[in-house]
Amino acid sequence: MSFDVDRIRSCFPSLDAGAAHFDGPGGTQTPRSVYEAITALLSGPVANQGTMTLAEQRAEAAVTGARQAMADLLGADPRGIVFGRSMTALTFDFARTLSQDWGPGDEIVVSRLDHDANVRPWVRYAEKSGATLRWIDFDISNGYLDVTDVESVLSDRTKLVALTGASNLIGTRPDLPAIAKSVHAVGALFYVDGVHLTAHTAIDVKAIGADFYGCSPYKFFGPHIGVMAASPELLESLHPDKLLPSTEVVPMRFELGTLPYELLVAVTAAVDFIAGMVPGDGTRRERIIASMNAAEEYEDALSHRLRDGLKATPDVTLYSNARSKTPTDLFSIDGVDGETAYAYFAKHNVNAPSSSFYAIEASRHLGLGDDGAIRAGLAPYNTVEDIDRLLACVKDLAAGTR
Ligand SMILES: Cc1ncc(COP(=O)(O)O)c(C=O)c1O
Repeated sequence: MSFDVDRIRSCFPSLDAGAAHFDGPGGTQTPRSVYEAITALLSGPVANQGTMTLAEQRAEAAVTGARQAMADLLGADPRGIVFGRSMTALTFDFARTLSQDWGPGDEIVVSRLDHDANVRPWVRYAEKSGATLRWIDFDISNGYLDVTDVESVLSDRTKLVALTGASNLIGTRPDLPAIAKSVHAVGALFYVDGVHLTAHTAIDVKAIGADFYGCSPYKFFGPHIGVMAASPELLESLHPDKLLPSTEVVPMRFELGTLPYELLVAVTAAVDFIAGMVPGDGTRRERIIASMNAAEEYEDALSHRLRDGLKATPDVTLYSNARSKTPTDLFSIDGVDGETAYAYFAKHNVNAPSSSFYAIEASRHLGLGDDGAIRAGLAPYNTVEDIDRLLACVKDLAAGTR
């Protein structure tokens, strides 16, 4: 099924402003149906969740609908979908809870490829509990993090391995199912940051082998909220800090305070939008997989054009070269600092920021310090014209004609 980018673009009023958006890895644009869902929820009766009044029922439906939608998106069990303020906040919450069971002699594994949201919470709670921290490095020559890199730090003392599904800085996609097998072979838990990956491929958390899989719907057309998927049985075994009157029932046990019902209906709308990117029949899960497969193929073709253009431009260094990666590229232009490039792009209505994007360990490991470099990330609404506009700006900058 071919991917109709014009039809997709017509769903995003913000694209009418004319910018070429390469800032999707920081947060995508929002389709009409998603923000209309927020208005619809708030413009009708709404109260706290319950079954008695229409207002309660609408809040209840927002929550159950969003759990089912995220379960369909991730191939997960709706009874194991936890909502939180953000992936960062959820990871701090889970690190606090899981670390109740850690002590001296235990080992916690993090990677230098990850966004700091899947590093610092583990560093902090490993320190607090007396557990030892172990680091996985990636190969800076090709951006790759191999299963053997993970295995080299595993032992029977490993309690948890935290690893990204895809780097938000250089796009690298580690082989999650193979790594999950090695992690489970030593009896450890596998905590996967799926924030960047979920926007670019069809996800099946069971096939991945993640014990915890975190993501953020604002990276895939939805609202600013965090989601964690885990099995209900695993969640049952954990006891987070909670208020006395709040429920012990899973997954609500992990959700602090009142849920943002208006954002939850927007989560459902975002998942429905994804399911409808390519017209077709079947269950929502089947339509999501078909749509994500088509979007991935479309983004890959655009990514080749961008990468070929960058490689053909003298004085451009490309840092994102893993054999398996998302359509997210990091590059610099000799003699042009990132901020200058970012400003030049912005003047030409091209949104491609320069930063370490909170993947600070990865940026340092690549020799880019805390400043990082220029990131061009693709989304399903990007076009060939967007790519050519960015490449023209890069060529200007490289040629010194700015
Ligand atoms: C790979 C990755 N992980 C985690 C995060 C943090 O997500 P949130 O903003 O939901 O805390 C981001 C945000 O950019 C990210 O790109």
